[in-house]
Amino acid sequence: MSSDPQDPTGMRRGLTSYGDAGFSLFLRKAFIKGAGYSDSALDRPVIGIADTGSGYNPCHGNMPQLLEAVERGIMLAGGLPVRFPTISLHESFAHPTSMYLRNLMAIDTEEMLRAQPMDAVVLIGGCDKTVPAQLMGAASAGGPAVQLITGSMLTGSHRGERVGACTDCRRYWARFRAGGVDDAEIAAVNDQLVPSVGTCSVMGTASTMATIAEALGMTVPGGATPPAVTADRMRVAEASGAAAVNAAKQRITIDRILTPEAFENALRVLLAIGGSTNAVVHLAAIMGRRGLSLDLQALDRMGRETPVLIDLKPSGQHYMEDFHAAGGVATLLRELKPLLHLQAMTITGRTLGEELDRAPPPFSQDVVKPLSKPLHAQGGIAVLQGNLAPGGAIIKQSAADPKLMEHEGRAVVFENAADLAERIDGDGLDVNADDILVLKNIGPKGAPGMPEAGYLPIPRKLARAGVKDMVRISDGRMSGTAFGTIVLHVTPESAVGGPLAYVRTGDRIRLSVGKRELMLLVAEEELEKRRQASPVSEPAAERGYRKLFLATVTQADRGVDFDFLQPAATGKVPRT
Ligand code: FES
Ligand code: MG
Repeated sequence: MSSDPQDPTGMRRGLTSYGDAGFSLFLRKAFIKGAGYSDSALDRPVIGIADTGSGYNPCHGNMPQLLEAVERGIMLAGGLPVRFPTISLHESFAHPTSMYLRNLMAIDTEEMLRAQPMDAVVLIGGCDKTVPAQLMGAASAGGPAVQLITGSMLTGSHRGERVGACTDCRRYWARFRAGGVDDAEIAAVNDQLVPSVGTCSVMGTASTMATIAEALGMTVPGGATPPAVTADRMRVAEASGAAAVNAAKQRITIDRILTPEAFENALRVLLAIGGSTNAVVHLAAIMGRRGLSLDLQALDRMGRETPVLIDLKPSGQHYMEDFHAAGGVATLLRELKPLLHLQAMTITGRTLGEELDRAPPPFSQDVVKPLSKPLHAQGGIAVLQGNLAPGGAIIKQSAADPKLMEHEGRAVVFENAADLAERIDGDGLDVNADDILVLKNIGPKGAPGMPEAGYLPIPRKLARAGVKDMVRISDGRMSGTAFGTIVLHVTPESAVGGPLAYVRTGDRIRLSVGKRELMLLVAEEELEKRRQASPVSEPAAERGYRKLFLATVTQADRGVDFDFLQPAATGKVPRT
């Protein structure tokens, strides 16, 4: 296709125009012809398809049908599809955490895009870390890329009640812990929580990142919401293949899509959907690959003027399939129009505004609220600062108890996840409903991989007494499907000697979401004494990926990416 075999951004173009001329091209063609290709098949845009199917990843369980539909779309548009594998990550089958492995998947994706000849790529992802990893890798590799989402799972039904992963998983487990659900019922509901292949059916991290990918312009219009097992999803896959051929022909490279305007649109949408807090970390990482850094204070200001419009669990009541039936992301973006950069380019070659004008007309529905009548007046995520979190912390206020937004209490401290597991359910634990639970050492380096352990359980004796929510603070993350008054991503983390490391049981802590403040009410001299008495030694490893991870991983505010994968930042987003 091209006479310019080495793209300046690093992606290698065209199967037959790859590398040097003469004998090596002759050899390369000979080898690919071993798979039965003709010269005519090879003489067209080559579209790679990142196949992330895996027996360990039911969230990608529709991969065979998706691949077939993408290939059909590519061939109908005159391209040659070539599948290739990368690693795949599922939330429940990635030890120690999927976050620990996200950067490995990003490196795999980036290097395969660089190594293999292709004019564009369709990236197929869905489960929480896969879409961020693919966008990070593609942002670094350059070249045209279309994100295809695997799609959400269906909802199930338990004794007449609609259930879905995994807000209801947590709700049922909490009831089981409190003694309200017996062994037989908890086993029965286990069959219904994940009733099909696809990603979690609430506005958790996977749905949040799917919605954000569409808002960024990285998917075809309508690409975020069709459930995994539907015909709509397969049509999106076919359209994604065709879009990739068009993007290859028009050279719609990813740097034209992932601009500051697009990231501001994405942050706006994250706030308006009451989306997963994990997306703050992932967006910081994707921006970092484009030389942009996330300005947490500016994000907080944006949050104050962005209402939550989507009524989906865990902040509201509906599921992803309802969002799709309500018209999907176009319905949302139409409401948000006054707050968006409509001139942002999308992977179709048209702007976001042009795509909105082409979207099906609005109709009456109750999942996406109008801008004039929001679900919450302010955005889902607030950024906190104070002497306990000099580098910031976040709270998902849309999923928290309003009564705990202004709260001062006594700290009950757990040194790490093992300490928590050992003591939280003991009858002897000295804890009251007004106390603040603090968990250390679950940050990027602490656990390592910043596990979703920030959703500390209510101590069993309090749960039995009917306590449903408490202020909980950690340097970890929480699942996008969880809810509660939970302060996350405390930066710097305790494992690198952040102030969190020196909190002791009995200290007073003050949370003020109104003032965006997180204060440890202990004198600086006392904290300095504690620092001198027990200095923190940062975790390190002898060999392998763990050594690389611990030596180079950044803090939450920079996306928990490896420092050597991010170019020096040249700008901040959101811009004020
Ligand atoms: Fe894959 Fe929830 S476990 S999206
Ligand atoms: Mg999750």
